[in-house]
Amino acid sequence: MKIAFINGSPKVKNSTSEYILKTLKPLLPKEYELIEYHFRTSHLSNHDMEQMAECNVLVFAFPLYVDGIPSHLIHCLYELEMFFNTKSEKKIVVYSLVNCGFYEGHQNVIALEIMKNWCVKAKLNWGQGLGIGGGGMLPMLAGVPEGQGPKKNLSMALKTIAGSISAAATADNIFVSPNFPRFAYKLGAEMGWRQQGKANGLKPKDLFMQR
Ligand SMILES: Cc1cc2nc3c(=O)[nH]c(=O)nc-3n(C[C@H](O)[C@H](O)[C@H](O)COP(=O)(O)O)c2cc1C
Repeated sequence: MKIAFINGSPKVKNSTSEYILKTLKPLLPKEYELIEYHFRTSHLSNHDMEQMAECNVLVFAFPLYVDGIPSHLIHCLYELEMFFNTKSEKKIVVYSLVNCGFYEGHQNVIALEIMKNWCVKAKLNWGQGLGIGGGGMLPMLAGVPEGQGPKKNLSMALKTIAGSISAAATADNIFVSPNFPRFAYKLGAEMGWRQQGKANGLKPKDLFMQR
C-alpha cells in the first residue's frame, strides 16, 4: 500500500501536525510505502499531484484555523480537486487529523465535515477523521512515553486510526482532549501568550487591544 502523509501546517518546523504524523508513522505496517509532503504554500506541483494520484491513501494533518481549514491548504485542496477530476475515478481513501488550540477536540468537527465534503467533490473516498484538542502543548510532550499521562487519549486514538488506515477502512470520527486538567491547560496557554507578547515588545494589556 502507498500512503501520502500530508502536513498542512504553514509552520516550517516544530508544528503539532508534524508531531502527530511522526507519532502515527511507526503504528503503520513497515512494508507500506510512505511519501511525505509539506503543503506550506498555496500551490502544488504537477509532479506531487501525479504522485498523490498513485497513492491508495491520503493522510492529512493540519491545524484548525478560525473553525476551518488554513487558507493556503484550501487552495491546495482546490488544485487537487481539479486534478483528480481529470483522472478516471480511483479508490483513494482520505483520513484527516485536525488539531486545535482549544482544549476540546470536538472543536474540529466542522473542519472534518469540510474534508469529508471535499472528498465528494474530488471523487475520493472518506475514511475517518480525528479531532485533537490541546494541540499547543503536544510538541512539548515529546519526552512523555506514548500512551502515558496527558497523551493517553491521543495515543489510543492514533492506534485506532492507524488500524483503519492499514485496512483502508471507513469508520466514525474520533475526538480527543488531553488527559490534563482544562484549567491548567488554559493557565499554561495564557502564560505562553504573555511570554510571547513580552518577547515581541508587548505588555499584557496589549493582548486585549481592540481595533
Ligand atoms: C490564524 C489562526 C487561527 C486559529 N484558529 C483557531 C480556532 O478557530 N480554534 C482553535 O481551537 N485554535 C485555533 N488556532 C490555534 C491552532 O489551531 C493551534 O495552535 C494548532 O495547535 C497549530 O497546529 P500546527 O502547529 O500543526 O500548525 C488558530 C491559530 C492561528 C494561527
